[in-house]
Amino acid sequence: MTAYRIRPEQAHDADAITAVIETAFRTAPHSDGTEQHIVIALRRAGALSVSLVAEVDGDVVGHVAFSPVTVSDGSAHWYGLGPVSVLPAHRNAGIGAALVEAGLAALRDRGAAGCVVLGEPGYYGRFGFECRPDCVLEGVPPEYFQCLALEGRHAAGTVTYHAAFSVGGPG
Ligand SMILES: CC(C)(COP(=O)(O)OP(=O)(O)OC[C@H]1O[C@@H](n2cnc3c(N)ncnc32)[C@H](O)[C@@H]1OP(=O)(O)O)[C@@H](O)C(=O)NCCC(=O)NCCS
Repeated sequence: MTAYRIRPEQAHDADAITAVIETAFRTAPHSDGTEQHIVIALRRAGALSVSLVAEVDGDVVGHVAFSPVTVSDGSAHWYGLGPVSVLPAHRNAGIGAALVEAGLAALRDRGAAGCVVLGEPGYYGRFGFECRPDCVLEGVPPEYFQCLALEGRHAAGTVTYHAAFSVGGPG
């Protein structure tokens, strides 16, 4: 089994994170190849609320980002998960799940009300994310947009990601 460590991003990780995201998404379906630029733009804007890396033997092999979203019903403290990436050589070892779980725990620690994700329903369902007809991201098939209430009630409205995502999509 691969031994890995999940830890918060540090300043010196930025280039390694960019490289991991670029490589991981190169062969991913639905990718437009801009995911690494989104993370760079979020960091620059101070909107990388939670940014975790997975390390194997001191090398960054995975990354997950969470950033604030707004909801049209005024729900506060909601975040978007993504992008999440693991280098191909390290997949199917639980690293992606560990990044997501640790990220959700970090969100809880900072008092987050909930989290949304755009992605494969089959992957994110295992973390408790579910499609809700009243929680919407415009322009995407509804089955690919899922929500997870971390505290209190669900958000109900149209979700908007941080402007940094305009360099690509909320992958
Ligand atoms: C998605 C990703 C982060 C998963 O990383 P990982 O470390 O392999 O994840 P885990 O080991 O925790 O989980 C592997 C499981 O996820 C499943 N899985 C991986 N990608 C999936 C996808 N796109 N849709 C559905 N399931 C997927 C695998 O089949 C495996 O299933 P199993 O547990 O039932 O065997 C990685 O495949 C990746 O970087 N992909 C390219 C970038 C990407 O698509 N990111 C997600 C954007 S929505």
